[in-house]
Amino acid sequence: MPAELIDGKAIAAAIRAEVAVAVAALRARGVVPGLTVVLVGDDPASATYVGAKEKASREVGMAGTTIRLPASTAQGELLALVDRLNADPAVHGILVQMPLPAHLDPDVVIRRIDPAKDVDGFHPVNVGKLLIGHTDGFVSCTPAGVLELLRRSGVALRGAEAVVIGRSNIVGKPMAALLVQPGIDATVTVCHSRSRDLAAHVRRADILIAAVGRAEMVTGDMLKPGAVVIDVGMNSVSDPSHPRGRRLCGDVHFPSAVAVASRITPVPGGVGPMTIAMLLGNTVRAAEWAAPAGGVA
Ligand code: GUN
Repeated sequence: MPAELIDGKAIAAAIRAEVAVAVAALRARGVVPGLTVVLVGDDPASATYVGAKEKASREVGMAGTTIRLPASTAQGELLALVDRLNADPAVHGILVQMPLPAHLDPDVVIRRIDPAKDVDGFHPVNVGKLLIGHTDGFVSCTPAGVLELLRRSGVALRGAEAVVIGRSNIVGKPMAALLVQPGIDATVTVCHSRSRDLAAHVRRADILIAAVGRAEMVTGDMLKPGAVVIDVGMNSVSDPSHPRGRRLCGDVHFPSAVAVASRITPVPGGVGPMTIAMLLGNTVRAAEWAAPAGGVA
């Protein structure tokens, strides 16, 4: 029997509806959650992502704003903008779209964002809170979205063997940190480009999370029968049989994996829609923390 699809679009829509309810409650108290996205340069893919973030934030009733800066923006100018946004009480969430042009240092920019407005969850304070298990920080949106997909699909996590392929700061590392938290309780292996015998690790996985950015590198024959497969990859590959000569695919070879897995996310329509939904969730939380219902004692 082929694997059941985990429908990221439907789960993301449910989360967005929940966020809209929370936004309405804040608005009733005179608080309009504000998300400001900063885009430096004119990378077309980044422009598309940023447009989607602004649109989604407005659809749930937030004040969504995009600030577009030229690729020639100096580091000092970008930091001055971040300072202004940090000080603006109408801005609850700040997101500086990555990648930045090569002359700008992303680490310096991320560290400048007020951790209380860092709805990306990239600031070292928020990464540290995740590792320690403190829940008053922000978790990077993609791994948070993967966890939500697993939870809302009823996947058993306690004691499960989870294998994460990829050790990026945005996905792989925070994903591992989330899965080992008490209460989630998975046993986690993180694989990367230097791992010996990747296939042997993958074969042990009850839950496989592929976040490595290599098209279709995980094939069905590597999987444990019945595994749950979450594909974070988003790769564009050349395919002459497609009308545009290219197609989008994940890090997992879907046709072979779907025959072995019990559940699997499609690409597109799996993890992708969850990232923006979790960003909205983080922003509404930032607004709630900035303006607690009973006021500050
Ligand atoms: N570029 C691609 N994905 C992301 C993201 O989640 N946050 C930021 N800031 N930049 C990105």
